[in-house]
Amino acid sequence: MVQNRYPDADCAAVYRAIYERRDMRHFLPDPIAPDLLNRLLEAAHHAPSVGFMQPWRFIRISCMDLRLAVHALVEQERLRTAHALNEREDEFMKLKVEGILECGLVLVAALCEQREPHIFGRRTLPEMDLASLACAIQNMWLAARAEGIGLGWVSMFEPEALKKLLGMPEDSQPVAVLCLGHVAAFYDKPMLEQENWAARKNLDNLIFENMWAVPCR
Ligand SMILES: Cc1cc2nc3c(=O)[nH]c(=O)nc-3n(C[C@H](O)[C@H](O)[C@H](O)COP(=O)(O)O)c2cc1C
Repeated sequence: MVQNRYPDADCAAVYRAIYERRDMRHFLPDPIAPDLLNRLLEAAHHAPSVGFMQPWRFIRISCMDLRLAVHALVEQERLRTAHALNEREDEFMKLKVEGILECGLVLVAALCEQREPHIFGRRTLPEMDLASLACAIQNMWLAARAEGIGLGWVSMFEPEALKKLLGMPEDSQPVAVLCLGHVAAFYDKPMLEQENWAARKNLDNLIFENMWAVPCR
């Protein structure tokens, strides 16, 4: 028995949330209760961060005109992405890649301004602020799954245009449009796997021993 291990049922619940978390793009229109949203934001805020920097900021988009404007930016980038995909353009255009207009709540997750002075853990790897924000979003994602709430991460937008739309400082950085909401059901598998866009890689091919590309198991 490992010391400090959670009881079996608690441990199983953690793995269950990990395996059953899905990126969601289909939502029911019901709103998210304020106390539930607070729990999700607190979960995000308890993520690890480089030098305990806590670089995350979340902007709640409660104005419908603003939500429409965010959606328009995403739609613009969706079309540009499709074009850039060349021979996969038609296949890509059939995918649903966001649920901004249907979901109960939209949040924009961003990196704060004035990040340069934070060099603890970032002197050689400045992108660790981004890694920290990703940890916060993942915490929210797992907590949302446990709460029965779907979350979809949308990264198809022109950051400068979104920054301008939301009155963000020049040295801040929007990273994700998060669609949150009630769902009828969670997808059994990643939607991109269901639609044959991509498949999960074999873990054995991703783990090396001592030297790059030397198989471990
Ligand atoms: C950094 C990041 C950006 C993403 N951006 C998008 C996006 O713009 N549109 C989308 O449909 N899914 C997006 N996703 C979701 C991925 O497509 C999804 O995580 C992947 O297909 C695996 O599915 P799963 O999350 O259900 O396991 C993003 C995920 C991450 C981690």
